[in-house]
Amino acid sequence: MSESVHGTSTSTPSLKAEPKKTADQLWAERAKQVFTPNYAPAELVIDRGEGCYVWDLEGRRYLDLVAGIAVSALGHHHPKLVAAIQAQAEKVLHTSNLYLNQPSIELAERLVRHSFGQRVFFCNSGAEANEAAIKLARRYAYTRGETERVKIYSFDKSFHGRTMGALTATAQPKYHEGFRPLPEGFGYLTMDLAAVEAAIDHHTAAVIIEPVQGEGGVRVPPPGFLAALRKICTAKGALLIFDEVQIGLGRSGAMFGYQLEGVAPDIMSLAKGLGGGLPIGAIVTTDAIAPALNVGSHGTTFGGNPMACAAGLAVFDVLESPGFLERVRATGLAFEAGLRAIAQTHGGVSEVRGRGLLLGMALTKDAGFEAKDVVKACRDLGVLVHVAGPDVVRLLPPLILGPAELAEGLSAIDRAFAGLRGRA
Ligand SMILES: Cc1ncc(COP(=O)(O)O)c(C=O)c1O
Repeated sequence: MSESVHGTSTSTPSLKAEPKKTADQLWAERAKQVFTPNYAPAELVIDRGEGCYVWDLEGRRYLDLVAGIAVSALGHHHPKLVAAIQAQAEKVLHTSNLYLNQPSIELAERLVRHSFGQRVFFCNSGAEANEAAIKLARRYAYTRGETERVKIYSFDKSFHGRTMGALTATAQPKYHEGFRPLPEGFGYLTMDLAAVEAAIDHHTAAVIIEPVQGEGGVRVPPPGFLAALRKICTAKGALLIFDEVQIGLGRSGAMFGYQLEGVAPDIMSLAKGLGGGLPIGAIVTTDAIAPALNVGSHGTTFGGNPMACAAGLAVFDVLESPGFLERVRATGLAFEAGLRAIAQTHGGVSEVRGRGLLLGMALTKDAGFEAKDVVKACRDLGVLVHVAGPDVVRLLPPLILGPAELAEGLSAIDRAFAGLRGRA
């Protein structure tokens, strides 16, 4: 029982007063009581955001170099995004796909205008977009009479989501544990062209790959790999799916990651940055492939939701504005150079890698600390960074990151490494 602060208690006063819990800690305790325990959140309740900064309940400010895991592409409280959402909320929130709505048609037109494709299917998340891609690939073969062409290949260390199909495509055993039996018809490859060439055959419906792996450690495929994979898929009649859920929509410095390599897929999955913070996913495909999703073959109640699509249009307005993607590219290069300088000064880093504003610092085995220790040290310095596995620090800031914010972020990462290396 707590003691009275007015001195009426007769119990012996404790010698050392308990430190008072912060509002964030109190809410974190409440969260622990009600949520399933599958996340391990920091004791940080984000109360509001502005640009590249967020504030906790105690009013402490953090520079956000995570952007809600590549979602808040325009940062927080972007006036165009807020205005678009407000205006749409005044009109209609939801229509279902029994009827049409203008924002979804316009957003599909934008995706088509900027990509290899001509057809769009909307859903609500990255995993759902990959489910749609996998289903489309199988059904495309089926509608062509190739009923044995069912196999979906993915690559070592990939991440495609947590629903059963996307989970099975995710080639990381730790995510499969305890969820068997997994759906049939999936296979796993390494980025070795001879092995890929040998595996893909008339049973292969599609190969799915992230043009830059995100969760799996911010890994860029070897030079020329995507082009060679494209050739093999075309030659063997298998579809090529690019999972651009994390790297797509400007994060690479191009509108889509595949554009950096000049290699187009047959199907592309998108989510995260597309709604700038509202849940939305999509696949883009071609006129030739899309008819396989004929009436009734696939669907989702919220797909093409007008609120999420209005947000998507505001995201596109910003991404399309003159010089925006060039600035992302320049900021990405400056960020990468800054991380390399930190690696050189302090050591403990085997590689700085990534594209645009999806960057990773891979730690050496003998660094003396893990990626999560860098996350904690940076948070204590008022900067949010993330991990990609135990030994990669991941940086994926809002695409609007400016030079002063970049300098602030690099300085905190530098101090975090100095502290951890000193301790190691
Ligand atoms: C490349 C990639 N694909 C798919 C997903 C799954 O997206 P969601 O969490 O929206 O289902 C993610 C999420 O991190 C991702 O990075």
